[in-house]
Amino acid sequence: MAAITDISACRADFPVFEDKLAYLDTAASAQKPLIVIDKMRDVMSHHYANIHRGLYKLSQVATQEYEAVRGKVAEFINAAENEVVFTRNTTEAINLVAASWGSTNLKAGDEIILTAMEHHANIVPWQLLQERVGFSIKVVPVLKDGTLDFEAFQNLLSDKTKLLAVTHASNTLGTVNPVSRMVKTAKAFKADIRILVDASQSVVHGGVDVKELGCDFLAFTGHKLYGPTGVGVLWARAELLEAMPPYQGGGDMIESVSFKGTTYKSGPSKFEAGTPAIVEVIGLGAAIDYVRTAGQANIAAHEKQLLDYMAGALGRVDGLRFYGTAQEKVGIVSFTADWASNADIAMVLDQSGVCVRVGHHCCMPLMESFGIEGTVRASIGLYSNQNDIDSLVKALKKAKDMLS
Ligand code: ALA
Repeated sequence: MAAITDISACRADFPVFEDKLAYLDTAASAQKPLIVIDKMRDVMSHHYANIHRGLYKLSQVATQEYEAVRGKVAEFINAAENEVVFTRNTTEAINLVAASWGSTNLKAGDEIILTAMEHHANIVPWQLLQERVGFSIKVVPVLKDGTLDFEAFQNLLSDKTKLLAVTHASNTLGTVNPVSRMVKTAKAFKADIRILVDASQSVVHGGVDVKELGCDFLAFTGHKLYGPTGVGVLWARAELLEAMPPYQGGGDMIESVSFKGTTYKSGPSKFEAGTPAIVEVIGLGAAIDYVRTAGQANIAAHEKQLLDYMAGALGRVDGLRFYGTAQEKVGIVSFTADWASNADIAMVLDQSGVCVRVGHHCCMPLMESFGIEGTVRASIGLYSNQNDIDSLVKALKKAKDMLS
């Protein structure tokens, strides 16, 4: 693919926009470019077979295509190929770490640190394990502007801390957290604290570099990265993966099976039991190629400019209250209106062809800390443009006229 010089031209790559639509729900799931759709169709039409099992060419080609994506992901996040595990999504990646690393490394009396802005996917797996093991969960509070209370974070670190699990960018507030600073602070306090980063929202807006972050685990999902649903990634340091027990048992993750005892493969294969999401993984590879061709710096610059435009335009609508006004943000704006409920607003926006998400955004503790039940959330992607924002503002004004 030739390098893309004008990011606004990317919109034409997404068939969904053939219909007039202001799609402002990319934080929930991104639309798909034709190149991803075509790649998956081509694999299913002409190159499909189960992988790692067939001694025939079709299977070997499918295996090569699948495994090549592991290399693409590794390069994309600056990691090694043997550290990339394919999962179903971010949620499964975090559940894997909790069930495998967590169950062998956390014990009663230990402490783990989460933040008040975590998605339920980075809270509930830890609570499920906590019920069985009995460690404590400490929570870094969020300040009024939607940033983390760094001082409180430092005060939560203790000799008992074993894990910090933190989102790189909040799916509700857009706040980009100072993860590498948090990693340095935690590891300086106690070198063996493990750090898990939920990169679901950050990997799509400008990319991530696991070496720069200095974390131990990182998770993201394919469907927010312009790829298909059903595929996600867990990155973990090789030495951690080697020491972790399998998460699920079944075909393809074993070396040998006997009723006297079973041995497992090493590396990522140990965690990919059963037939994986072959077509989806290959689709994710096409999505990564697409994003790299668009240029992560171009995407970040485009979205930053559009975020500023959106914040400015929404700021001129009467009676809105904003949640998450940090300096460092990805393209997400959350708000409530003093003149109508979130659900009523969403209904009017939908009638105007404007897609946003309303509700708690799988962040009920964050909502609780702001004393609200939910927000209206508008989120952008590389294909978004000023017309989308103008449509949102126009529809909001209409909603205000109708509902207040
Ligand atoms: N995690 C997705 C969101 O933020 C579904 O909407």
